[in-house]
Amino acid sequence: MKERLAIFGATGDLTARYLLPGLAALRAGGHLGDGFQLIGASRHDWDSDEFRRWAAAQLDRHAAEFPAAAREAVVSSSSYRRADVTSPAAVADVVAGDGPVAAYLALPPAVFPAAVSALHEADLPAGSKIVLEKPFGEDLDSAVTLNQLLAEVVPEQAVFRIDHFLAMTTVQNVLGTRLANRMLEPVWNSTHIAEVDIIWDESLALEGRAGYYDGVGALKDMVQNHLLQLLCLVAMEPPISLGERDLRDRKLDVLRSVRPLTDADIVHHTRRARYTAGHGVPAYVDEAGVDPARRTETFAEVELELDNWRWPGTVFRLRSGKALGIDRKEVAVRFRHVPHLPLGHGGEALPNVLRFGLDPEDLTLDLTGIGARASTFAPLTLTAQIDPPELPAYGRLLLDVLEGNAALSIRGDEAEEAWRVLTPVLAAWSKDLVPLGEYPAGSAGPDPRRRDRNG
Ligand code: BG6
Repeated sequence: MKERLAIFGATGDLTARYLLPGLAALRAGGHLGDGFQLIGASRHDWDSDEFRRWAAAQLDRHAAEFPAAAREAVVSSSSYRRADVTSPAAVADVVAGDGPVAAYLALPPAVFPAAVSALHEADLPAGSKIVLEKPFGEDLDSAVTLNQLLAEVVPEQAVFRIDHFLAMTTVQNVLGTRLANRMLEPVWNSTHIAEVDIIWDESLALEGRAGYYDGVGALKDMVQNHLLQLLCLVAMEPPISLGERDLRDRKLDVLRSVRPLTDADIVHHTRRARYTAGHGVPAYVDEAGVDPARRTETFAEVELELDNWRWPGTVFRLRSGKALGIDRKEVAVRFRHVPHLPLGHGGEALPNVLRFGLDPEDLTLDLTGIGARASTFAPLTLTAQIDPPELPAYGRLLLDVLEGNAALSIRGDEAEEAWRVLTPVLAAWSKDLVPLGEYPAGSAGPDPRRRDRNG
């Protein structure tokens, strides 16, 4: 394969922790040809040698599991240009060369419009692609504007809006398990399923990312993209194929079916909070680079319902928080109680829960069986480990970019619908209709306000 990847914002955290290791994985797996070229661009006043030294150090640090030869090959395929992404001349210099280029914007969302306009003027070679990191825009209006700008530069199939959750094996497994097992699909509806928790609770705190995170917050960082995408995979109708059109059409249907939230819904069915000091972690507002006046939430929870034939009455709870006491990263599908239990048994028959563990990657099913004392119900859990993926999520996505397969990236209309779902929440939160709560770092988060929805 002869491909060129130009990363704008190439000296940042994303390149160091995900893109360079992803490329090393591709190289180790024989997916990158000798003609592959990596062009790093950023505002640092570096030359190619300096960039290569930095890239080698990052690969040693974040990709030590891949053979040294693969890491070295990535480093030696790279070069560097100093560039201001808002300058058309500088951008043209970065992308100039033989054949198509994939322009990867590893940049804050506020810079996207200027960078895309610069790419437009740079006159990209035919067959080129543009890759963007979420959030795609800062709200619905800016997402629409960004999509219009992109459409002037490359066709939609050449736009890769990256959501690395979609390339995680267990996330893929949500859809795979649903559709490849005859016993699941007949009960995959609101007659049998009471609620679905889509949870990404992290013990990690801000990790020095205030420059990106402050002012963005948990709702835009996690719920608007990763968690809504998971909702799509859980709730979608079976697609005809996993090709980009079928998969993305069915995901769009789910987003379009989300019942619009009223202010009253938002008051009762959303929560936001930020962490205070605890367990050796400073309060969010005291983290370097944070402006407390932005009132950025580090915890967000939203309950949604879908207006369609399959899901009336099922509650989908999407939640993510940072600096929490326990990592809980899963999709938990909770079934309703059985309609009748024969008299004569002791104990309680708890509802079945099917859990897709996202990190660590596993699959568990909570059942009820008969315990050691005959005629007494007892919980029974089946657990399966998932084989480690051949490629890390970013390796898989970079391969898709290089091969031109957009199925796992977000289409423009999906990005816009996801903003539509959350626009009323953003508006209500900005008017303080929902108080910004607090929770100590290392705790279980703000007080739950959970209703029993189990029918
Ligand atoms: C990123 C978010 O997209 O996903 C982070 O910006 C979050 O805030 C991260 O921590 C979680 O994914 P991973 O794969 O880095 O654990």
